[in-house]
Amino acid sequence: MSAIILILQLILAVIMLPLYILYYLGIWGLVLKKIFPFFMAKLTVTYNKVMEEKKRNLFSNMSDFAGTSKELRLLEIGCGTGANFKFYPIGCRVTCLDINPNFQKFLNKSQAESDHLKFDNFLVASAENMTPVADASMDVVVCTLLTCSVPNTPGILKEVKRVLRPGGAFYFLEHVASTDESGWISFFQKVLNPTWKLIFDGCSIRRTTWKDLEDAKFSELNLRHIYAPTPMKLINPHIIGYAVK
Ligand SMILES: C[S@@+](CC[C@H](N)C(=O)[O-])C[C@H]1O[C@@H](n2cnc3c(N)ncnc32)[C@H](O)[C@@H]1O
Repeated sequence: MSAIILILQLILAVIMLPLYILYYLGIWGLVLKKIFPFFMAKLTVTYNKVMEEKKRNLFSNMSDFAGTSKELRLLEIGCGTGANFKFYPIGCRVTCLDINPNFQKFLNKSQAESDHLKFDNFLVASAENMTPVADASMDVVVCTLLTCSVPNTPGILKEVKRVLRPGGAFYFLEHVASTDESGWISFFQKVLNPTWKLIFDGCSIRRTTWKDLEDAKFSELNLRHIYAPTPMKLINPHIIGYAVK
């Protein structure tokens, strides 16, 4: 089976050769940084439609983590266009962080539509190195569809634990590798992953993010594997839940 996968990967690599050349010249990366926000703005509409109930359930107990502060202090990492704002509790103070400044325009629009929230500055930074965010300064950190794009998930989780106050919560919703290794989804994930990463700005459909969460040693971990009903079958294996520092 692994020989077939390798042959199919090679065939795809040959077909995608022009894109690989643009990638190694640094051109494709620059183009992607510009067009990815437009793509995400479109994808978010479809994704939020099919995931509405799951997101609403996931974020429903968020207010429980307000702690002693008057308002819930929430940091969203890899915030993109601001796809989750409508699910956050009224009055919550939101800090947005993303590595790509080109999301600003889309973020402004989502913020203008979310007058139930208070927004702090948009931080352009990497989730693995959130120096602008002080230690223990957040009640909640949210991360949706981010770890697929970042090879160093343990680095992100270390930073999440640093910025969360003790007892604060980390909410996640991520597409991951299929756990059914003998199934068709797993097969096509393996065949298409190199091409997928090239086209979608480093996004991998083979991440085992649940293992990183288990290794991160939060005091409590509520994690479920679910099958998301999106039209893109290869990203449908998901993990959903929250961890408490
Ligand atoms: C697939 S989008 C998801 C956006 C949003 N969270 C959502 O659910 O629609 C991934 C986002 O993570 C951002 N990103 C990628 N690598 C990052 C990193 N190392 N640190 C912070 N953000 C990153 C991308 O710029 C993009 O906005």
